[in-house]
Amino acid sequence: MIETNRTAYQRAVLKGGMEAASMRGAWLGVDLVGLQENLKAIKRSLAPGTRVMAVVKADAYGHGAQAIAQAALQSGASHLGVATVEEGMKLRRSGLDEPIMVLGLVPDAAISHAIEAGLQLTISSGRQIQMVERIAAGLGKTVEVNLKVNTGMTRVGCEPHEAPALMQYLLASQILHVIGISSHFGTAEGKLPVDAEAQLAKFDKLVRRIGLPPGQILRHIANSAGAIYLPASHFDMVRVGLAMYGHSPRGPEPSPIQLTPILSLRARIAQVKEVHAGASVGYGATWTAKQSTRLALLPVGYADGLPRSLSNRGQVLVRGTPCPIVGRVSMDQTVVDVGRTPVEPGEEVLLLGGHGDQSVSVERWAELDGTISYEILCGLGQRLPKMYYR
Ligand SMILES: Cc1ncc(COP(=O)(O)O)c(C=O)c1O
Repeated sequence: MIETNRTAYQRAVLKGGMEAASMRGAWLGVDLVGLQENLKAIKRSLAPGTRVMAVVKADAYGHGAQAIAQAALQSGASHLGVATVEEGMKLRRSGLDEPIMVLGLVPDAAISHAIEAGLQLTISSGRQIQMVERIAAGLGKTVEVNLKVNTGMTRVGCEPHEAPALMQYLLASQILHVIGISSHFGTAEGKLPVDAEAQLAKFDKLVRRIGLPPGQILRHIANSAGAIYLPASHFDMVRVGLAMYGHSPRGPEPSPIQLTPILSLRARIAQVKEVHAGASVGYGATWTAKQSTRLALLPVGYADGLPRSLSNRGQVLVRGTPCPIVGRVSMDQTVVDVGRTPVEPGEEVLLLGGHGDQSVSVERWAELDGTISYEILCGLGQRLPKMYYR
């Protein structure tokens, strides 16, 4: 269903999306109402006043960062999280002036760009503090920063024993305005998140020890898994990505919070071929027809994020009926055995999403591909046009 009450930006995206989708014959559908419902469900599970950072890095996990960022802010997210300065600058150029935090470490060469764009920077060392302070002073600007502490993930973050001194320095700085202290879970999605609980205890102890000025500094550690499974980790803000897009951090296991996937993938059949027993399909001739059948060609391949590992294993919904992918998924095309179903070229099929009581999920693809739903989602955003639904 498409609603008419849209911003000019959304209208433009929708118009562009429709044109691109019909030219391409395959497209991602992104349900922005679903996104807002997911965010509302997440917010209902938080204590009043707990903020939400919408994590929109990697082009919002393939969903399109600008549209997702706008919709998330309209649904009460207070912050946006990106991985790189370029991602943050793109959002600024789209007209958003809400807080955008760069969650990753910023190369020295990008610091001035981040400052000019008014992005919040993640700080994890004295060296970085000096560098950012010097560059900001040279530009005559102040910068908002977030101190990140390693509590067990051993990626970005100063060590806990370094944090009190770094925080004291930041609190006194006239150039760097510290707005938060954070850490990141490595295992909160596991069934027995003991390591996450240990990380949480370390973080909690540290923030108590530092004795932060009340209400001024946001304490945050929870990702989607923390937000859902570890209420004690919510502190002042949760940073949610996967759950906002409607996926459980525990893969196929449903989440206790009602989440609905917001992404679908559709394609129009490019060609239907009648074949007889013995006809083989695709590179390597890995599938051969055992009897006469009809094969539908879809204009989607691994360059669109359809994993090659779905060759001879995945299924597509044709008129709501699961039909097998046959032969190898190639870069731009995939063949499906539709049997006697009387489909015609131009008919729409569903590669991801639900139809009646049948569905093909990102989680199923991830399982077949031996990966996680995050990787599937990010891969899908690369080439396919997007249609946004409201
Ligand atoms: C620092 C940080 N916070 C939060 C998130 C969001 O994680 P999730 O998508 O599991 O909610 C990420 C994503 O990897 C991240 O890197």
